[in-house]
Amino acid sequence: MAYRMEGLPERVTVYEVGPRDGLQNESAIVPVEVKAEFIDRLADAGHTVVEATSFVHPKWVPQLADAAELLGRLDRRPGVRYPVLVPNERGLDRALELGVTEIAIFASATETFAAKNLNRTLESQFDMFEPVVARALEHGLDVRAYVSMCFGDPWEGPTPIEQVVAVGERLAGVGCYQLSLGDTIGVGTPGHVTALIGAFGGPDRLAVHFHDTYGQALGNTLAALKAGVTTVDASTGGIGGCPYAESATGNLATEDLVWMLRGLGIETGLDLDKLVSTSTWLAERLGRPSSSRVVQALAKG
Ligand code: HMG
Ligand code: MG
Repeated sequence: MAYRMEGLPERVTVYEVGPRDGLQNESAIVPVEVKAEFIDRLADAGHTVVEATSFVHPKWVPQLADAAELLGRLDRRPGVRYPVLVPNERGLDRALELGVTEIAIFASATETFAAKNLNRTLESQFDMFEPVVARALEHGLDVRAYVSMCFGDPWEGPTPIEQVVAVGERLAGVGCYQLSLGDTIGVGTPGHVTALIGAFGGPDRLAVHFHDTYGQALGNTLAALKAGVTTVDASTGGIGGCPYAESATGNLATEDLVWMLRGLGIETGLDLDKLVSTSTWLAERLGRPSSSRVVQALAKG
């Protein structure tokens, strides 16, 4: 039984980041065949977009150093997109060689995180990203852009909204089809989400990416939906975080998001039972229980 609320979209795209944002933060390196099966299971559950891996420097994120091998093993389904994270032209070359059709760049809204995550300044990150976007577009790729630390930064405190908008507009201006607003350390609250989306002039091109460190991710998502956003990032079992941001614990869990959306009568095309069994399967491989509340509740029942 669904109970709709006024002012929410009919349909939401869940942009699954578990294989990338989730597995990049695991202390153990997950075998490539487990990663490939994970992605296949996500497609089986009805996902239409699964961020598969990253073409970053393998020394920076050894957990995803097998990106090329993983892409070779993927059983690509028609109708499913498999974007990958790319920071620079070296990463783009590697992705193009493998026939990738969609990439995501990842900018910082703050100076300190640009240094820690990208080894660049806030300004010089654009010198790295702009040629990547230009060349990717020439090759016919779709380019998504993340903006990290949109709400606060562990070193700098709250992030000024105008600073986030300036970074986001610059990336949209060079041709990124979507901006995913990242609450990398999970400090945002619903009114802040509404204010940020308003400062962008509305939801066009915006997606949201909430880490759940302070338990705000679902509330923040509802605020984003009310503001008109229709793409929400989430991660199987809430795994994930950025190795270069203190306290960037778990993403919004896909199963918790889908439970809420299903209850609101919002279509996602996802099969919650299959998502839960994938989350339980993954938890066994990672050696710890799924932190999704919905998975815990349904597994008990
Ligand atoms: P750098 O050290 O400044 O790189 O790192 P460089 O351009 O000076 O190059 C140094 C060497 O690295 C060169 O090799 C390059 O070829 C090589 P050498 O000539 O010395 O032999 N190199 C590469 N090799 C393979 N693939 C590459 C690559 N690039 C350079 N792509 C760089 C700069 C951006 C590469 C580095 O800082 C990096 O890899 N950072 C990635 C960090 C990361 O992946 N963080 C997690 C993802 S972001 C996130 O999780 C947040 C998000 O979820 C949203 C949110 O939650 O807010 C997206
Ligand atoms: Mg993230």
